[in-house]
Amino acid sequence: MTESTAPVHRKPHVATLRRTLPKLLRDPLGTLVGLADATPGQVVRLNLGTIRPYLVTEPAHVQHVLRDNAANYTRAGDSMLWRSVRKLGGDGILSEGPKWEASRRRLQPHFTPKRLDAAVADMSRAISDAVAELAGPARDGTPVDAAAEVSRIICAAVSRVFFGAKIDTADARRVVVEQNTVATALRFRLLAPFLPDAVPMPGDRAFRRAVRNIDEILLPLVRAERANPEGGDDILAALARARDADGNKLDERRVRDDVVSTFATTTETTYTVLTWLFPLLEQVPDVAARLYEEIDRVVGPGDVVTREQVGELRYTRMVLDELLRAYPSGWLVPRTAVADDVIGGTRISAGATIALSPYVTQRLARFWDRPEVFDPERFAPDAPRRAHRYAYFPFGGGAHQCIGQYLFQLEATLILATLFSRFRYRLCEPGMPAPQLAASLRAGGPVPLMLTPHRQPALA
Ligand code: HEM
Repeated sequence: MTESTAPVHRKPHVATLRRTLPKLLRDPLGTLVGLADATPGQVVRLNLGTIRPYLVTEPAHVQHVLRDNAANYTRAGDSMLWRSVRKLGGDGILSEGPKWEASRRRLQPHFTPKRLDAAVADMSRAISDAVAELAGPARDGTPVDAAAEVSRIICAAVSRVFFGAKIDTADARRVVVEQNTVATALRFRLLAPFLPDAVPMPGDRAFRRAVRNIDEILLPLVRAERANPEGGDDILAALARARDADGNKLDERRVRDDVVSTFATTTETTYTVLTWLFPLLEQVPDVAARLYEEIDRVVGPGDVVTREQVGELRYTRMVLDELLRAYPSGWLVPRTAVADDVIGGTRISAGATIALSPYVTQRLARFWDRPEVFDPERFAPDAPRRAHRYAYFPFGGGAHQCIGQYLFQLEATLILATLFSRFRYRLCEPGMPAPQLAASLRAGGPVPLMLTPHRQPALA
């Protein structure tokens, strides 16, 4: 047993079913932040009837779970999210143990700054073409849905990195749509993780059908690539050529699992977080004005945004950092305790579910000044150092830290720069949408936008 802080064994603060459930149903995220703010430095036990997870929000405690005593907190258990995630991605990069480790070793080299910088020109060209399709609706005054359009643009941007020219755009889009179904269908299981798979739940059928459809598109690509590896610098080609620790070619299931896990996390996390930016910017016009000014100055009426320009878009980067504080797509990071432990003086029993939440920790009033205010200045280069490394952990931490952080920063900057160098928008329905808690934190309804042309790209 290890200790995260002083070895005082105290009872956890228990949030009871009768008092908490109605509030949780009405405003789940606000209620969790309120509970954490009201119990500084403590672990909170959420009594939700048959499920009683520990909500761990104090940055030092988060560090204990994700890094210092990470061996005791596993994703291999039946905890809330991971069992469903494994049904989509198999037991590779999103699981635990030797298969996770092998997968991580295989995948990580494809997401380094050096590798991705080499793909910027292709990615940016794909984004430019995808954004150009918005000219029609902008001219005609037809509203577009922010989530659908951002997801379409991301899909175009990353398909090249993942699949080269081996998947056609319509199929890549279909994969993203099916992944979307997976992410929302599993929210019912997220709420009832104690139910065995044999007990049917709403969303199960849609989940299974979506996984089947994804396989129908991707497995033939995997097979073709393994049978006739034509090379190329895309991830599918690299995985099809990869060997396991014994020098054998990876079997088709492993290649499929690695591709699906990374493609799914890339598209899902990026489009859900970027969708929030549209309603948010309308609440903070001075932030929007500064963002537009920077993009106009650095990119101008350019056609394809370059790697050099990405480096100059410093305020855009601060906006993205703040967006990930306020609306982290990975809002819930669950673990299962392997052995008894003590966190912040509270005894945790083996088998207990631990819920970490970047959303809650990143809004704790003791660590963030006016946490409800969207203020990119928190991330200015000369801003005071954060009180604790784990007061901000949108990409997790420790051995499971996200491998896609650089990809996100690159593609998100390219997308915002390309989009706002050509268009402005207004919301068709003013105000912030209510969040929907699925595998990622998503806007609960459509976010219709009316686009207006700003500048047209210069002719090449
Ligand atoms: C807004 C963007 C993103 C956010 C907020 C995000 C968040 C996270 C978080 C919180 C974790 C930790 C999970 C845990 O500890 O259990 C994680 C892991 C991971 N992320 Fe991301 N992610 C993002 C983008 C991406 C992208 C673009 C990729 C593409 C490769 C990616 C791939 C992964 C993978 C494979 C893992 C598991 C790593 C491991 O367990 O070894 N993510 N991400």
